[in-house]
Amino acid sequence: MLMRVFVILPAAGLGTRMATGHGTPQSPKQFLELGGIPVLIHTLRAFAAVPSVTRMYVAVRAGEMERVEAQVSEHGLADKVRVVMGGDSRQESVSHALAAVECDDEDILLVHDAVRPLIEPAVIERTIEAAQKSGAAIVGLPAVDTIKQVERTADGALITATIPREYIVQAQTPQGFRAGLLRRAFAEAEADGFTGTDEASVVERAGAQVMVVPGSPTNLKITQPGDLDLAEFYLRQRASR
Ligand code: C5P
Repeated sequence: MLMRVFVILPAAGLGTRMATGHGTPQSPKQFLELGGIPVLIHTLRAFAAVPSVTRMYVAVRAGEMERVEAQVSEHGLADKVRVVMGGDSRQESVSHALAAVECDDEDILLVHDAVRPLIEPAVIERTIEAAQKSGAAIVGLPAVDTIKQVERTADGALITATIPREYIVQAQTPQGFRAGLLRRAFAEAEADGFTGTDEASVVERAGAQVMVVPGSPTNLKITQPGDLDLAEFYLRQRASR
């Protein structure tokens, strides 16, 4: 049987780190526009360009479901996208989407930050291939800075160790898993009250090996003011190639 790929996009964050500090609540970053198109739509388009992707599930806050559904239709993506309700944490948002995905244990589930709109289809394909081969694979970027472990004290951070750079990669998304493995790992995490900051940490905890495939520094996570300008720059550069 042909392998199917499903994508979960957690997009229910509040974007508090994008706040201007002027007391005005900012639009969550997944709805900010990049080259006149919402960030989330850029992300959905990248996955829609991968032929093995069957369907995408976007988890958003309850009050934003209608707006997102309208945007998805407006951009011609309605037949491939389902909008589901997000949760209070990233893990909960993914968990809600997991409950909605209709797939077999052998299918591949990719989880990708809605706020990484510059993901390239070739990197998505690479992740799918590795996840298919090994059961679990994420995109990671080698660390270029020297990494310090610190202890937070009242006077500031104090270095407790230097972690050799060759042992470090920075985890990005997509993160891909065989669906049965991801479901089992999420069930175990929920039973134990464990919350991770990415899906791999949940799967590692369940005892599975997770491969890392090379990512790209342009796959940035739009998090802080300035990231959007940088993303615009990369997008223009790509258009002129
Ligand atoms: O919080 P973090 O920066 O890891 O957010 C990464 C992604 O998870 C974002 O796309 C954000 O919208 C999403 N998220 C979510 N539900 C939450 C919090 C974050 O879907 N409750």
